[in-house]
Amino acid sequence: MTDRRVQIVPSHRVQSIGAYAFAEVDREVERLRASGIEPIDFGVGDPTIPPPTIVREATKSGIEKHKCAGYPSYIGMPEFREAVAAWTERRFGVKLDPEREITSTIGTKEAVFNFAEAFVDPGDVVIVPTPGYPPYTRGTLFAEGRVHYVPVLPENDFLIDLDAIPESVARAARIMWINYPNSPSGAVATRAFLEAVVEFGQKHNVIIASDEAYSEIYYTDEPPMSLLEVSREGVVVFQSLSKRSAMTGYRVGWVAGDERIVATFKKVKTNIDSGTPNFIQEGAIAALSDEEHVRVSRAEYARKRDLLADALVASGLTDCRPAATIYLWQRVPNGYSSVDFATRLLEPGVAVVTTPGAWISEQTESGINPGEGFVRFAFVPSIEDTLKAAERIRTASW
Ligand SMILES: Cc1ncc(COP(=O)(O)O)c(C=O)c1O
Repeated sequence: MTDRRVQIVPSHRVQSIGAYAFAEVDREVERLRASGIEPIDFGVGDPTIPPPTIVREATKSGIEKHKCAGYPSYIGMPEFREAVAAWTERRFGVKLDPEREITSTIGTKEAVFNFAEAFVDPGDVVIVPTPGYPPYTRGTLFAEGRVHYVPVLPENDFLIDLDAIPESVARAARIMWINYPNSPSGAVATRAFLEAVVEFGQKHNVIIASDEAYSEIYYTDEPPMSLLEVSREGVVVFQSLSKRSAMTGYRVGWVAGDERIVATFKKVKTNIDSGTPNFIQEGAIAALSDEEHVRVSRAEYARKRDLLADALVASGLTDCRPAATIYLWQRVPNGYSSVDFATRLLEPGVAVVTTPGAWISEQTESGINPGEGFVRFAFVPSIEDTLKAAERIRTASW
């Protein structure tokens, strides 16, 4: 036996992944804790409320119902896909064929990441909004595609400026990601915008991948639309129960839309995973059958949104209260960068953790980073902690 060490060399793809951006915040939080101050953490967007009782009960009895575990169906049980179709019709007035137009996913994240594998060849372009959910980019890069970032800016109401996408990019693009209600800006898309997006896709043969993970967390009178209400030709939506029913840890979602896209994506998925566990799908079916818990959690998020926004306004900042999502995308005071302001908020008098916009946004071709000038609050702490944070923010001076 030799004692030679085996060289472990991460792939170029893995090496291309940057350092964990939140490490510095984590260190600051540890320093505060060591000095006896417990910071209030609005950093990461993971709900801290439990899933509703009906979901937990249905999941528990699902374990008994599916005693012989076996591999689940790759595309989801028929009952799950039927529940998705029924919900989609109730919520958006769109009739989907559960057999051909829906497939289950293990939450949206894996679906977003793996989607590029189905349609992107090396060098193909994927149009990605920034700031935006990182797997749009990482999935593209792992499929050896090229990312073209489009900025999400307040001057465009955080809608993508389709006219600013160069013709050469549109020609080379295979997929365009959109995300409304938008994380982190909280913006909701107008029907006119969604129609323009569909037209863009059809004109340039670009698949429109619409991440609708936040469609149920809204504060407007009218609920946000799904892109499926405009068209399903060349369109696919990514949905999830993570935020709607506080089921992040259950890992269940679905992809629905143009049956050709869904069929190709299923082909990729059957080679990657073995489906969402049946007992989790039982929990998901229960979640989809109930809207009351969603109304309750919307009201709680709305309360947190208003507590924070009112305090920020009282401290002299712009009113940035969102129309939807669990995020508040706050413009920072004059003279501060996004990192400066997040650091200021971490100081002992305020001790509030946020995410600097520049860290979750990429520089676009025009040389700007559209996340610069913003910090993100996620409505994750309890109402009591949000009240505490609001009080400290209200009396702070920047
Ligand atoms: C914009 C967006 N899409 C998708 C997701 C992923 O949700 P899931 O838990 O379904 O993977 C998130 C999670 O934070 C998100 O912010």
